[in-house]
Amino acid sequence: MALWGGRFSQGASERFKAFNDSLHFDYRLAEQDIIASIAWSKALLTVQVLNVEEQLKLEAALQELLFLVLSDDHIVLDSQAEDIHSWVEIQLINKLGDLGKKLHTGRSRNDQVATDLKLWCKKKGIELAQCLVDLQVTLVKLARINQQVVLPGYTHMQRAQPVTFSHWCLAYVEMLERDSSRLKDCLLRLDTCPLGSGALAGTGYAIDRQALALSLGFKSATRNSLDSVADRDHVIELMSCATLSMSHLSRMAEDLIFYNSGEADFIEMSDQVTSGSSLMPQKKNPDAMELIRGKSGRVFGALASMLMTLKGLPLAYNKDMQEDKEGLFDALDTWHDCLEMASLVLSDIKVNVEKTEKAAKGGYANATDLADYLVSKGVPFRSSHQMVGEIVVFAIQQNMALEDLSVTTFNRFSSLIEDDVYSVLTLQSTLNARKALGGVAPEQIAFALDEAERRLI
Ligand code: ARG
Repeated sequence: MALWGGRFSQGASERFKAFNDSLHFDYRLAEQDIIASIAWSKALLTVQVLNVEEQLKLEAALQELLFLVLSDDHIVLDSQAEDIHSWVEIQLINKLGDLGKKLHTGRSRNDQVATDLKLWCKKKGIELAQCLVDLQVTLVKLARINQQVVLPGYTHMQRAQPVTFSHWCLAYVEMLERDSSRLKDCLLRLDTCPLGSGALAGTGYAIDRQALALSLGFKSATRNSLDSVADRDHVIELMSCATLSMSHLSRMAEDLIFYNSGEADFIEMSDQVTSGSSLMPQKKNPDAMELIRGKSGRVFGALASMLMTLKGLPLAYNKDMQEDKEGLFDALDTWHDCLEMASLVLSDIKVNVEKTEKAAKGGYANATDLADYLVSKGVPFRSSHQMVGEIVVFAIQQNMALEDLSVTTFNRFSSLIEDDVYSVLTLQSTLNARKALGGVAPEQIAFALDEAERRLI
């Protein structure tokens, strides 16, 4: 049963109905639709569309429905209703007859869906903010456990300079911090209530929209009815937060997949989050991380698709906008899932300290320190860079590390190199040297970890 039959003499084709209906995905707005309907019934009381007794009856019936959908929102799916707004109204009419038919006075599904979706976004946004913090906490704990563990740092996938495993963890804590801040910012901006905007021109009843907004937990009412029903910026913004955060998770996944590879062998992931091969018995694959990397594509896609859908739409509501929900639900569910999965994987990771240390020592990762050593002896950096480049070529030819070269050999390139060079070429001294804020010196790592724990734990 549709709620708009009066103007029509023919019923909808089944094919069209299936195409047009949105209940199979917007059933997820059931809770929000009922809560907003209760608030609307109270607003109708203030303008005498309902009397006290009627409002109480409607509210009680809506509360009953709420109880029902909270215990299992899938019950909604058995119905033939067009969308969740129709479903709620049909339930009320079935239960209360004519009184149920009064609820939609002064309201449109356009301001209704806009309100429901914003309420849903607020709820989901709070859950996601918590997931971001949870993952940060997991990373900080992992960083603490591996505070001193050396890890080769890469640029261009070439060993560049040693870092620590904790420094790697804290890099992702920073990214997630920005994700949190973007999410909070977006939640602040979406915190305005469209209810009472009617179909597009505003409701025909003198409702105090500011009070209505506050009663639904919004900071304020929206200011312009046309914009209220046409606006889906929050959908785009949330998906764009999700997209950027998924790109962080995807980069993290890529790092971990490499660290977990047979070639690097820096970490081992728990049996609980890896899977085997149906053919090759020796395999233990990092599927969780590969799926996170893969799912990032799907979230980016949802954002791109919504941007496309909205870009040519005239004001105000157009049915194209019904396409906002599936992408949004899927993108935010996927982001949620991936945040939790990343946390699960990272909460049980073993770092192979010998392997990371051996790798950090190789690859001439102390070459910059040799150049800095020459700088300390008065050589301008650009010249010391050139000299060390030549020393590295020589060492590669000899298949030796820099610290294995004798002073006599060093002196073929620069007479300024003395015995004290060896102390600057050790792994520890390359770390110790990076004492400036944000660097990998032990005191900086300790400071960064303390700070992160203070913020998050
Ligand atoms: N199911 C619709 C949606 O999700 C609800 C709004 C319908 N409004 C309308 N004028 N047909 O967008």
